Amino acid sequence: MAAAGSAKPRILVTRKMMPDVEARLSRDFLATLNPDDRPMTRDDILRLAAAHDGLLLTSFDKLGPEFIPALPPSIRIIATHSVGYDHLSIPQAEARGIAVTNTPGVLTDATADIALLLMLGAARGASWGDRMVRENRWGETTLVSPMGFDVSGRRLGILGMGRIGQAVAKRARAFGMAIHYHARKPVAAEQAPGAAYHARFADMLPNIDFLSVNCASTADTRGMVNAEAMALLPRGAILVNTARGDIVEDEALIAALASGHLAAAGLDVFRGEPQIDPRYRSLENVFLLPHLGSATPRTRSAMGHKCIDNLEQFFRGERPADLLTRA
Ligand code: DGY
Repeated sequence: MAAAGSAKPRILVTRKMMPDVEARLSRDFLATLNPDDRPMTRDDILRLAAAHDGLLLTSFDKLGPEFIPALPPSIRIIATHSVGYDHLSIPQAEARGIAVTNTPGVLTDATADIALLLMLGAARGASWGDRMVRENRWGETTLVSPMGFDVSGRRLGILGMGRIGQAVAKRARAFGMAIHYHARKPVAAEQAPGAAYHARFADMLPNIDFLSVNCASTADTRGMVNAEAMALLPRGAILVNTARGDIVEDEALIAALASGHLAAAGLDVFRGEPQIDPRYRSLENVFLLPHLGSATPRTRSAMGHKCIDNLEQFFRGERPADLLTRA
């Protein structure tokens, strides 16, 4: 542990961060950075962790369920550079007395923007249209083919009405979309103006043209968008996912896209990413992104600073603003 009152806390940072974030880390901590962004395995992190008091890691680190129990006793806090924390077990951290923090709020807009990009890209054929131009196939276009699908004025169903779901709804309202949502509980009317709440996910599905997945990945939501759910969507519906890949069942989604029951899908997240089900690559009606939800300089910088704020609060003996574990 950093000597009380004197040495700065020692923080292991698993990935390259924005320059302003790295500068602050180096100024305020004894920070071990990863300037070459060399991917660290779980064993690398565990080995290096022994010389540190805290970890700043990301949802892209492949940690697995054995990670937290195997951490050395020096580690007192994990700040994850993500709002999602499904890569970390909060009960395991609590059992070890390790604090865990995340980065809510600062990536809401960037992620909601990507959800809209997915809706537009999937519906209007952004990936096949782009390919046609690059492959010099513009001449194949006619007045009746190829064609996408309308977004404006359609019905959007949002699964999970937290900050990001609400930000997606706000943007979709500008497209004249009717908003439906399913969440464990209805949100206050001012947080989802004009939106129709469905207490049962299954009741929302027949009433929408687009389904946007915006809930956290938890034991309750994993696999929730399965074959049964997809069958309840009207033929020609479009699915977009900016949350986590494991909420959607790949097998069911690929079958629905191949059969045409779903017209298209836009995916920024995948089960097992960056390895994805290879069948997605050969489907024409999917618009695929490599988990870009928070990938803007402003957002990534804000996420890094939020991690540092939490680390600093913790090492000052305060309750970190974004503490996930019981204090
Ligand atoms: C998050 O913050 O959870 C984003 O998905 C990036 O990992």
